[in-house]
Amino acid sequence: MKVGDTHYRSIWFDEEAQVVRIIDQRWLPHEFRVVALETLDDFATAIRDMWVRGAPLIGATAAWGVAMLVREDASDANLASTVEVLMATRPTAVNLRWALARMREALEPLPPEERWPAARAEAQAICEEDVAINEAIGEHGLALIREIAAGKPGGAPVNILTHCNAGWLATVDWGTATAPIYKAEAAGIAVHVWVDETRPRNQGAHLTAWEMASHGISHHLIVDNAGGHLMQRGQVDLVIVGTDRTTACGDVANKIGTYLKALAAHDNGVPFYVALPSPTIDWTLCDGKDIPIEERGQDEVRKVWGRLEDGAVTQVTICPYNTPAANPAFDVTPAKYVSGLITERGVCAASREGLLSLFPERTREAANG
Ligand code: MRU
Repeated sequence: MKVGDTHYRSIWFDEEAQVVRIIDQRWLPHEFRVVALETLDDFATAIRDMWVRGAPLIGATAAWGVAMLVREDASDANLASTVEVLMATRPTAVNLRWALARMREALEPLPPEERWPAARAEAQAICEEDVAINEAIGEHGLALIREIAAGKPGGAPVNILTHCNAGWLATVDWGTATAPIYKAEAAGIAVHVWVDETRPRNQGAHLTAWEMASHGISHHLIVDNAGGHLMQRGQVDLVIVGTDRTTACGDVANKIGTYLKALAAHDNGVPFYVALPSPTIDWTLCDGKDIPIEERGQDEVRKVWGRLEDGAVTQVTICPYNTPAANPAFDVTPAKYVSGLITERGVCAASREGLLSLFPERTREAANG
């Protein structure tokens, strides 16, 4: 997507410098910084400390991490230890496990001298597929938005609420929840987005609001507690969120606070959709309670990042010094509250039957989940 006049992806291989480059998301929206990743520590830190984040981008970054480490040392031992270190960086987004397994399966059968070119091609393929998947999600989500728009008087905007950042910054390009929004805008459908700020790390305020502004999409930033009120007043037509892991039975893990939005949507008859790329489906699980929920550091709750009037980006504490804080980073929305899953193959019910109607080749795996 565009940053100014330049088209960017969130991760790319720089041929000239022979390094992987990412947008360091910790500094957005105040500063646009691109950094290079080369060593295992670079890749692990970038994922763990959320220089990159969002389930699909976590997977893509891990894939490039394996590729770059294999270039350095293509031995079985290095491949295994790289996968092990990266696997431990973030537990909830299943795309991490998916991408690492895919890299290992592609590389293990090869002799070491063939591993770097194959690893590079595989990491690139993961990125290209992610872009194509998200664009397809955009087309299927567009149909939903179009239908709602058709029922609105006089071209009134379709009001969409989203949580966290499931935008292009969370993927390689397009985003998942945002792809239908970008598609609708391009199709000339009036849309307006309610952007949840998404405490504690404020991915909505920092990233989604920046994306919406960069692409000229009408939006308002709201505090996390405002969604229910807006739904009661008829000011939300549709909720679209992303997901970090969705079980074979349709339970959806996503950024903490998503569940409360789903409850409010259910109570108010507002459709609640989840944009779901297939690598985010965990076919081995059925019950969302089995999804590991990442517990992050207390300072993410106690402190917030922002920009001072003089332009300096800094962190301030918002509670008494050393207040004990709990920080579960994700929650699980049970399938019964999900109106539908928007996948790259179409929209389906949040259920095993729904998912298998689009992905019949996973029937055997899903039966064990
Ligand atoms: O902790 P984060 O910022 O990695 O959490 C991101 C989310 O919860 C997104 O909604 C999810 O990964 C979907 S991204 C397309």
